[in-house]
Amino acid sequence: MRFGKLNHVGVAVPSIEDGRARYAAFLGDEAVLETKDLPEHGITACFISTGNTVVELVAPLGESSPLHAFLEKRPDGGQHHLCFEVENVPAAVEALKAEGKRVLGEPRIGAHGTLVAFIHPKDMGGVLIEIIEAAHGEH
Ligand code: CO
Repeated sequence: MRFGKLNHVGVAVPSIEDGRARYAAFLGDEAVLETKDLPEHGITACFISTGNTVVELVAPLGESSPLHAFLEKRPDGGQHHLCFEVENVPAAVEALKAEGKRVLGEPRIGAHGTLVAFIHPKDMGGVLIEIIEAAHGEH
């Protein structure tokens, strides 16, 4: 099982507005891409272009958001996940499971309309890993 390019770095923030303002101050307003509510993932996401990759700010959406537990431990937010591109998410999930890695839930449609899945941080050196089928011509 091989990962492709780093697609984005996920950063948890308690407030998407504050996070967006902070990164706009660092990188310029033009770096701020779109903000999207993803109720099926329990998050609001805001994408920030850094030129060579993307920072995905994620804030909790709804009471059952998986981010509440993260922010309880780290109320100021913090680095949350790394996302790598793969050619085929279901095939990658099968390969990862065959290696004994725990995959969180089933592959789902992510913020860019393509399949994503998450690998348990305990099987990845403490880092939550997202895998994504990259859309063509995407940021
Ligand atoms: Co992500």
